Amino acid sequence: MSPPLSYLDYNAEAPLKPAVAEAMAAASGRVGNPSSVHRFGRLARRALEDARAQVGALAGTGLTNVIFTSGGTEANNLALAGTARRQRVVSAVEHDSVLAAAPDATTVAVGSDGVIDVAALEAALAADPAPALVSIMLANNETGVIQPVAAAAERAHAHGALLHCDAVQGVGRIPLSLHDLGADLMSLSAHKMGGPQGAGALVVRDGVDLSAMLHGGRQEAGRRAGSENVAALIGFGVAADLAADDLKNCERMSGLRDRIEAELTAAAPDARVLGDAAPRLANTTCITMPGVAAETQVMALDLAGVAVSSGAACSSGKVGPSHVLAAMAVEPAVAVCAVRISLGWDSTKADADRLIEAWTALYRRTGRNDLRRRPSTG
Ligand SMILES: Cc1ncc(COP(=O)(O)O)c(C=O)c1O
Repeated sequence: MSPPLSYLDYNAEAPLKPAVAEAMAAASGRVGNPSSVHRFGRLARRALEDARAQVGALAGTGLTNVIFTSGGTEANNLALAGTARRQRVVSAVEHDSVLAAAPDATTVAVGSDGVIDVAALEAALAADPAPALVSIMLANNETGVIQPVAAAAERAHAHGALLHCDAVQGVGRIPLSLHDLGADLMSLSAHKMGGPQGAGALVVRDGVDLSAMLHGGRQEAGRRAGSENVAALIGFGVAADLAADDLKNCERMSGLRDRIEAELTAAAPDARVLGDAAPRLANTTCITMPGVAAETQVMALDLAGVAVSSGAACSSGKVGPSHVLAAMAVEPAVAVCAVRISLGWDSTKADADRLIEAWTALYRRTGRNDLRRRPSTG
């Protein structure tokens, strides 16, 4: 019999919710392109617009504000390329899909707590004669640190710039509203909230001028060409509806997370929780096992039936130290020993216990002959 498994990698991918899977299974048996005028097309269109209304409700906006995309990466790219191709300001801890889409952007530093320095943002905006766009994430995927988006939006607007918020990790964990965040654009991804992979949205405030990145047909009101992935977007709509329930789960999740942190730091007094001085998502912890490389931890925990990520495993194929931890001035020798544990609605006390047991056993096993005995490389 295979051992019990504990999936604690919700920030990389949340499990598909059963109601989502059901809705998608029903939809994938139906034919019809939402751009076709016949009845099959009209039915697909209706289902697509229902999903749009559900995602709009999640973001506190209307139907016309939601542009469906292939996920968070495309939404981020569209926000950055579609509003301003230059004079952009981004935080140092943004997801790679923001940083790589704006390589020329001015970067705003974060403190050692992982929170952006609003004074540094103000200085970057003041130094630019006509800043066009500021991009600040709602919560960091590696540490869970929550950013002061509304304060950043206020600064951006005072300088005539738009504010884009990558809210991919915030859904179901922080109440979400484009309006309350003061954002002009907001990125969402279905697979982080119990929806399918390959579906997402850029939510755009009324009046924001956005040019398309993909050209072709007139789908998504001319702002994103290409036939929509109707079954996936129906699933996204259902997941958006259910996201409100996840908020009710946050207290239980932070209880489990806090217990994990307390037990691990009790077993390993030299372990560090990175970002814990700042407000964080209830489900995330980024913790170091000193001297034991993150990849070693991930593999050992996997053998014990526990799935976690090394810091930035969200970006597949990425090797080397995390830019997020580097921005927080975490020493490289410490950063390479950080793993991310991220819980979700299905996480149980048994999952937390299994992780604690496997992690502490690994710590004890490696404690005498690990990297801690080697001289630090800085
Ligand atoms: C903060 C953040 N933004 C964007 C993305 C990209 O989303 P997607 O996987 O839907 O392209 C991710 C996840 O990988 C993320 O964590």
